Amino acid sequence: MNEGFDLKTFSADAIRRVDEALSKRLGDLATTPPRLAEAMRYAVLGGGKRVRPVLAIAAFQAAAGHGDAVLPVAGALELIHTYSLVHDDLPAMDNDDLRRGRPTCHKAFDEATAILVGDGLQSLAFTWLAEADLPETTRLRLVSELAAAAGPWGMVGGQMLDMEAEGKNRPRTLDHLRTIHAHKTGALLASSVRMGALAAGADTATLVALTDFGRTIGLAFQVADDVLDETADTATLGKTAGKDSAQGKLTYPLLMGTEEARNFARSLKDEAITRLTSFGPGAAPLRALATYIVERDR
Ligand code: IPE
Ligand code: IPE
Ligand code: MG
Ligand code: MG
Ligand code: MG
Repeated sequence: MNEGFDLKTFSADAIRRVDEALSKRLGDLATTPPRLAEAMRYAVLGGGKRVRPVLAIAAFQAAAGHGDAVLPVAGALELIHTYSLVHDDLPAMDNDDLRRGRPTCHKAFDEATAILVGDGLQSLAFTWLAEADLPETTRLRLVSELAAAAGPWGMVGGQMLDMEAEGKNRPRTLDHLRTIHAHKTGALLASSVRMGALAAGADTATLVALTDFGRTIGLAFQVADDVLDETADTATLGKTAGKDSAQGKLTYPLLMGTEEARNFARSLKDEAITRLTSFGPGAAPLRALATYIVERDR
């Protein structure tokens, strides 16, 4: 199904487009206090794999979308994701010093600034989305979708569960872990796929299939992140390796063992790809991204 498709070329082009859009949007913070603007740029423009924007662009294409209308969607997703990382790294949360191969935002600036960076990125994401060159009803739907994925029903709720699950005398079942991962990471990844399709004006059947696909690879993404935390080195990851077990985090390798966790991620990937059988060659990027998400080395 994916013969002749080259993910490297597709991703490089998508990343170039979204990085340009992000630079431009973050370059335009004229009335923002300079130190805050600088810290926001530091957090967003300093690397990152850009998986969520690339997924949105791939879903836009799978739903027959053309042109640049997807870029504010892709950019807003990256802003929300980066905000979640800046806050995730704070001493009160995972207390990390290294992110994307550089000092974390609160190390490069200070904690108060890092908190405000997250808050600022979140607002900017919604402003951007609300101003996108898309029909009003589509914009409203996108705003509502992103709010749900990021908020207490999505990422923020998952982060709360993640923190509550730290330490040995907590519930340590696979069901509970799946709920944590589906919320803290799966929700935004699933919405990346859905929002790309929504921006293309996808019909309900397309959206239903892509929702299943997105939720499944969203969970697979965090399973792979857990495995990489155990198996990869700090230099490759660009963030401190081995932190999950040091902090007593509830992870798939902890509950299943590393090899089984890796197999589980692969089985989720296979399941996700079967959701795309009705899509044809337009979904080649999504299929390739599903594989990348579980086989990546960082
Ligand atoms: C890391 O996300 C945090 C998780 C949700 C697992 P990424 O692995 O997408 O981080 P960047 O954006 O590439 O730095
Ligand atoms: C983070 O999960 C999820 C979010 C940022 C919402 P992790 O805490 O495992 O992410 P890393 O490993 O620090 O990137
Ligand atoms: Mg965390
Ligand atoms: Mg973390
Ligand atoms: Mg992790």
